[in-house]
Amino acid sequence: MNFTDAKVMDYLHAAQPSNDPVLLEMEERGAREGFPIIGPLVGRTCAAFARAIGAKRVFEMGSGFGYSTFWFARAVGAEGLVVHSEGSAVRSAEAKVYLSSAGLAERARFLVGDALDLLAEEGRSFDVVFIDVDKHQYPDAWRIACEKVRLGGVVLTDNTLWSGRVADPKAKDRDTVGARTYNELALADPRFLTTILPLRDGLTVSLRIA
Ligand SMILES: C[S@@+](CC[C@H](N)C(=O)[O-])C[C@H]1O[C@@H](n2cnc3c(N)ncnc32)[C@H](O)[C@@H]1O
Repeated sequence: MNFTDAKVMDYLHAAQPSNDPVLLEMEERGAREGFPIIGPLVGRTCAAFARAIGAKRVFEMGSGFGYSTFWFARAVGAEGLVVHSEGSAVRSAEAKVYLSSAGLAERARFLVGDALDLLAEEGRSFDVVFIDVDKHQYPDAWRIACEKVRLGGVVLTDNTLWSGRVADPKAKDRDTVGARTYNELALADPRFLTTILPLRDGLTVSLRIA
């Protein structure tokens, strides 16, 4: 879902194309299979936030076949680390192959399992936590992520407008409630400065200020 005029979306995509063959291959695969990758506009935005805060440690919750991982791995630089966490062992293995062929696998750690449990088990904090798991899990994902991101770090969460359904009070399915509740929790938390960007399907950005 995009909230921006179609012509403007075409302009944004044409002006900001992905410039790596592996990234392009993953975009083609996402389109072909209807697999919901974050896409180049959100990828670029996430990379910009990561670089703006000098991120070196990123934890991704719900990493799929590694498209968003690619953007973060490039953003953290050669000394950085991105934790790819994914419930599907097949997609995790595919991500490893894509990242390897892009020369970025050394910056990534690939964990298979429930991303919420895996983040909760981490002993150290992160500069960025990126959330893209099933939407009904978003409130619980926030409760874990908000404790794991360092002061000055960011929590970035995709699909937080959920095709606009969060704005429809009649929409009460569990994924819509999850995304809506997520935004409420993040916006109400005084430790974070949170804003919801109406980019693609909505990207909520929470900067830890206290
Ligand atoms: C929207 S896709 C991720 C796309 C990826 N972030 C990207 O942009 O390339 C969501 C992925 O999260 C995984 N997933 C959903 N809930 C999960 C959970 N609780 N723990 C681990 N993986 C989960 C799904 O298997 C799926 O591959």
